[in-house]
Amino acid sequence: MTRPDTTTAPNAGALTVNGDRLWRSLMDLAETGAYDDGRTGLRGVNRLALTDADAAGRRKVIGWMEQAGLAVRVDAMGNIYGRREGTDASAAPVLTGSHLDSVATGGAFDGCLGVLGGIEAVRTLDEHGITTRHPIEVAVFTEEEGVRFGTDMLGSAVAAGRIPLDHAHALTDREGRTLGAELARTGFAGPEGVRLSPPHAYVECHIEQGPVLADAGLDIGVVTGVQGISWQEITLHGRAAHAGTTPTRLRVDAGLAAARTVVHLRSMVDSGAYGDLRATVGHLTVHPDLTNIVPARAELTVDLRNPDDTHMARAEADLAASLRTLEAGTTGLTVATRRMARTAYVPFDEGVQHVIARAADDHGLEHISLLSGAGHDAQEIAALCPTAMIFVRGEYDGISHNPREYSTPEACAHGVDVLATTLLRLAGHGR
Ligand code: GLV
Ligand code: MN
Ligand code: MN
Repeated sequence: MTRPDTTTAPNAGALTVNGDRLWRSLMDLAETGAYDDGRTGLRGVNRLALTDADAAGRRKVIGWMEQAGLAVRVDAMGNIYGRREGTDASAAPVLTGSHLDSVATGGAFDGCLGVLGGIEAVRTLDEHGITTRHPIEVAVFTEEEGVRFGTDMLGSAVAAGRIPLDHAHALTDREGRTLGAELARTGFAGPEGVRLSPPHAYVECHIEQGPVLADAGLDIGVVTGVQGISWQEITLHGRAAHAGTTPTRLRVDAGLAAARTVVHLRSMVDSGAYGDLRATVGHLTVHPDLTNIVPARAELTVDLRNPDDTHMARAEADLAASLRTLEAGTTGLTVATRRMARTAYVPFDEGVQHVIARAADDHGLEHISLLSGAGHDAQEIAALCPTAMIFVRGEYDGISHNPREYSTPEACAHGVDVLATTLLRLAGHGR
């Protein structure tokens, strides 16, 4: 992998974007898929990948790309690329972007900041009449969240060659609809080949989604890498039985087995034996899901995160051992597991981190380096080219995947100032 020339245009000025215009675009996009969160009274965003809401958001953003003069193409995964030409026809593009899909209870910023920030950076280059040597492309990756079709960073993983296109197309949502069919239905099964030629570099601006920057009182983080992610689905098969008549000794209660698994995961975290392990059971259902029936089946998802691959592997092995023990200790209970997603710790390129840090310095923005707790498209594109990310501070302890998710207009503008300046320096001035 060739490193980008981090000394490109060392005296290039720092680019300041139009923060009001950026904010308006974030708020406008958030209206697509908006919902009123009954319990909190907040307005959130529900734009699961390849739903009608996601498709409407995509069309809105394609319109903004075209207004900004970008040439738009869509690939066979529905990934969207908007291209601004450079002066060197042989130069690989500097890529930026993120995702537009959200979780079902999302906010206005997760992913959108990176895409709309990329478009805002292009508008700013245009307004300054700046041409770059390398082209600049703004990407929208499909199904980053992974909550509809079960695998996160899906579009970027296929673009980077880690996941085959056929496998991705065959993934199904909970209603059994395939991703391939949903791409066709929404009009986003594009004609372009999905494998991305290595870009010159990739930079993604994203909200932090955690409390580190807020605790430090800073707007900007330079991201050093992304921790490992392990997703699996566990199905526990017990036996349906009458709630009133079945003595405890005759029950094979799949719901109880699920509860024991949840508690066991928490005890693994609390033991400290797996480093900085995080464990989440975000999906848990019992069947037939009725008051007076002992659950016949339970399904749960396990999301493990760990910055250390050895600790992660041991946590996975110990969870598997605990499931075998549960099965062996409960007559009639059987356990099945299905791998949904798995990525190792991904370190980011130090050269690109350096360009980001210099850009922040030149904007007078204090910054710190930090590891990402969340998964990002950048971790996939990092397999193709030197890559790093800019984090923007979130309010309310950086809460995210929640309608309360919020970054101030100033913090967003600062992040995109740093993005625009970094893109310019990586792309170099055209001649
Ligand atoms: C992506 O949002 C993740 O789950 O980290
Ligand atoms: Mn995201
Ligand atoms: Mn997310």
